[in-house]
Amino acid sequence: IRSVKNICCIGAGYVGGPTCAVLAWKCPDIKVTITDIAEDRIRAWNSDELPIFEPGLDDIVKEARGRNLFFTTDVDGSIEAADLIFVSVNTPTKVAGIGAGLAADLCYIEAATRRIATVSKRGAIIVEKSTVPCRTAESMNQILSALSPSNATFEILSNPEFLAEGTAVEDLLDPARVLIGSMPTTRGRLAQQRLAEVYSRWVRPEAIVTMGLWSSELSKLAANALLAQRVSSINAIAAICERTEANVHEVSSACRLDLRIGSKFLEAGIGFGGSCFQKDLQNLVYLSLSLGLPEVAEYWKQVLVMNAWTKQRFARNIVQKMFSTITAKHIAILGFAFKADTGDTREAPAIDVCRDLLEDGALLHIYDPKVSSSAINRALGPAKGSNVSFQSEQRAYTVEASMQQACVGASALVFLTKWAEFESHAVDWKAIYASMSKPAWIFDGRNIVKDPTALKKLGFIVYQSGVGY
Ligand code: NAD
Ligand code: UDX
Repeated sequence: IRSVKNICCIGAGYVGGPTCAVLAWKCPDIKVTITDIAEDRIRAWNSDELPIFEPGLDDIVKEARGRNLFFTTDVDGSIEAADLIFVSVNTPTKVAGIGAGLAADLCYIEAATRRIATVSKRGAIIVEKSTVPCRTAESMNQILSALSPSNATFEILSNPEFLAEGTAVEDLLDPARVLIGSMPTTRGRLAQQRLAEVYSRWVRPEAIVTMGLWSSELSKLAANALLAQRVSSINAIAAICERTEANVHEVSSACRLDLRIGSKFLEAGIGFGGSCFQKDLQNLVYLSLSLGLPEVAEYWKQVLVMNAWTKQRFARNIVQKMFSTITAKHIAILGFAFKADTGDTREAPAIDVCRDLLEDGALLHIYDPKVSSSAINRALGPAKGSNVSFQSEQRAYTVEASMQQACVGASALVFLTKWAEFESHAVDWKAIYASMSKPAWIFDGRNIVKDPTALKKLGFIVYQSGVGY
């Protein structure tokens, strides 16, 4: 097992890009090549307009790019030269066939593994960076043994990524932990050590945790399931609060003070979104079913049921409060990304809430500081009046350039992402109220309104998730 001088990352997405950019930035003597089959994505990584928005990422990429960090569509060339290969391809939920709606689609993992087996002549350390079902490395090993030349030696490690979008750079610079799982063999442990040496250039030694491969694969699913479960748990409590005049923010602050519960991930709202939680829970449900554990599957499924219900409940509340009809009413949607500080809309709760409101006949004015109108079009379908050449249902919404503009003429404003600019003291609430249709509602799905009394004094009717009126 060679020492690591040349790293390749297959998959230049939300994980591969930031992870290996930070690695290259921290290890100038290691050549890092990030490769992808998506030409437009690689073009964007090589331009001034990176394909993803992450605070702090631009500076890191600009400093390392061309020095020891490269982005290329030459997948084979990058694999061939590498001592260590991160596999960071997408692992979406299957949409058809066996396990549709639950199982992870491993076709991209398999395609990448087949490429490595075919192209890498000397062999390499292969690192599962993607989130995969437990024991995926076993299938990868079989592919490698069947396809690779006999003198190539491979060792597979599991090194799941725990970064959260919006804080990717800070999470990567100072991770809570870096897990490295290996087979319990001498070669496995040596490969583990090689990867640990790379991380130890900037990660605290106590944060680098080694374990068995299967534990490492499962730890990633377990961590996301536990985090998602907290969000669903507090959202379930929020529904009780609204019926009892308890306030979920007070209840959660009381719970947070218990060190055994901890202070994070107890923010009630409109439900969780993002590309990971739902997919990884589905993955865990499928794994449980395949292992003959239906009760375990049912237990984790309930976290998803609660999340779907939370999103619906929020949309239904809007309709009910606005005199049970929103037909032809203008509604400002503030925030579309699944969380703040990202332009990512994958599984964003905003998509479900907007669809429900459109279904009920509302006319939406959507504003998000980082989500492009083309991303909104992709998520909701094209807006009415857009110049679409194909036959498709057009939806009644516009994409606006600012919070103020979105509110003009609207009967309600709905907060769906916790962007700092919505909470800013600079927001002129008086002017916003004046520009709106009356009565003017605020539906706060993200705990943005800190002083509802002040807004009520201006004339707004304020509804907050988990608080009520
Ligand atoms: P992504 O869709 O943004 O990126 C994946 C990239 O892989 C795409 O650009 C795709 O073109 C490329 N790709 C697919 N097959 C390929 C192949 N055979 N050769 C070359 N390139 C190929 O996905 P992502 O959000 O970066 O997630 C990647 C993995 O990391 C997933 O398994 C995900 O569950 C996991 N993960 C994601 C996050 C997150 O916050 N997004 C966090 C932790 C873990
Ligand atoms: C998550 C995990 O946190 C990360 O460790 C893993 O690597 C990838 O999946 P991410 O999806 O990027 O990260 O964002 P996260 O901060 O976990 O938020 C997920 C969703 O939960 C967002 O929609 C967020 O708004 C929501 N959320 C989070 C809540 O509704 N309440 C909370 O208290 C926390």
